[in-house]
Amino acid sequence: MRQVCDFVSGLTAYTWIVVAKRRYWRLCQYSDGDLINYFWLIKTGGYVLKRSGLLVIIMSLAACGGVDPNSPLGKRTAIFKEMLNVSEDLGGMLRGRIKYDEALFIEKAVELDTLAKQPWQHFPSVKDDDKTSARDDVWQQQERFQELARALEGTTARLVASTTQPPLNESVLALRVQAVEDACESCHKEFRAY
Ligand code: HEC
Repeated sequence: MRQVCDFVSGLTAYTWIVVAKRRYWRLCQYSDGDLINYFWLIKTGGYVLKRSGLLVIIMSLAACGGVDPNSPLGKRTAIFKEMLNVSEDLGGMLRGRIKYDEALFIEKAVELDTLAKQPWQHFPSVKDDDKTSARDDVWQQQERFQELARALEGTTARLVASTTQPPLNESVLALRVQAVEDACESCHKEFRAY
């Protein structure tokens, strides 16, 4: 896939140069004489058409640069993003950034616990993608990586356990959420390249 993208971008750059050169040459050729206005119109029209064709190529290139959502990288990235959203909501409710709603908190805690189990299966046993922001250590020190993944799952399970008997104690919840955030951070420090 990478090679295809590189090839298309090379081709695009090349076409740009050819078109620009030809346009300049024609402009010089017809730049004296009465017909210039007509030629100018036709050439410019053609140029605009070519350009829009190129635009399509460039836009598809932009798509090339993105991550395939169905690849392992795409899948784990989507889960991580969702984990971030949910954990930010939980923290936000306790810190007053968003309104605290006990029922919603309980729901989101369960959601986070479910999500926390999911990214790991989308790390193949061999490094799969150059666009990853995971360090090589993920693959070289898999045991340690898995250990930190289990640690996170432990913190989300404890968070859920603290939400089973309303009314909830907010200061306990704050400790639990902090533990989750610390678990995210300690793995990122070891295994994520920023
Ligand atoms: C066991 C290790 C580990 C834990 C625990 C962990 N992460 Fe990550 N996280 C990673 C790695 C590795 C990446 C880089 C993934 C990649 O690009 O292949 C990552 C990437 C991310 C990203 C970036 C996704 C993107 O857009 O590229 C977010 C956001 C994220 N993690 C959020 C979280 C949150 C929130 C938690 C805790 C609730 C968490 N992570 C816990 C290892 C971990």
